[in-house]
Amino acid sequence: MSAPTTQRDATGVFSPTRAELPQRTLRTDKWWSQTVWVDLGFAAFVIYATVRAFWGSNYFVPQYHYLTPFYSPCVSTGCIPEASHFGQFLPDVWWLPYAAVTLPFLLAFRLTCYYYRKAYYRSVWQSPPACAVAEPHSSYTGETRLPLIIQNSHRYFFYAALVISIINTYDAIMAFQSPQGFGFGVGNLVLVGNVILLWIYTLSCHSCRHVVGGRLKHFSKHPIRYWFWTQVSRINERHMMWAWITLGTLMLTDFYIMLISMHPAWDFRFIGHLV
Ligand code: FES
Repeated sequence: MSAPTTQRDATGVFSPTRAELPQRTLRTDKWWSQTVWVDLGFAAFVIYATVRAFWGSNYFVPQYHYLTPFYSPCVSTGCIPEASHFGQFLPDVWWLPYAAVTLPFLLAFRLTCYYYRKAYYRSVWQSPPACAVAEPHSSYTGETRLPLIIQNSHRYFFYAALVISIINTYDAIMAFQSPQGFGFGVGNLVLVGNVILLWIYTLSCHSCRHVVGGRLKHFSKHPIRYWFWTQVSRINERHMMWAWITLGTLMLTDFYIMLISMHPAWDFRFIGHLV
């Protein structure tokens, strides 16, 4: 067995070569299990989100003004007027989701997220699937050229995600105002909980950490930015956890709103009962 070496490829990028082993790996543990779980998690979300984004109904509860985040903001001419907090200016065609102004940005924000990149490079692209396991591809260029160099645009999608989080927060606040006046039920808890978790995920972004504390030579001269950087760093440590939790809570929130839109009486109301 020869030792691994490092060499430059034609573009000058260092590309490590692996030891010449006949086996793909010498690992005997279940190194493949994490990639399988990640693939299953991604597949579940992609299938659920795609179906719901094009569903076109059961996204709003008129009795309580609950609006699912998958349809926020609802800007198609096909939207229920009470669900359209920001006007209706998109045509109602089957291939355009009602929230088509925000969904592409949310998708791009997650696709270019530092954690998700690591996860799908390993689990979907198998590059490599685990430590000390050879990948099936013959060359590796990282994110130095098209198309993966586009991943560097993540910071701009972070700004878009901030705006969308504000819109989701507005929706959650508006849901306390039902046609009968102020109301408060389990659906409000679900919407508020979802928004809080979305904020934590968004603010724990690595780009956010750089925005609040990056490019400073002396933290001592910027105590306020240092304080914010410290707080963002705390939640950033568990960015992977927030990434998975929010995928789950987005689906659960949408599912709950869909269920209550079919059966409004199923929502337990603390204030403002169904009349
Ligand atoms: S690094 Fe994950 S959202 Fe920015």
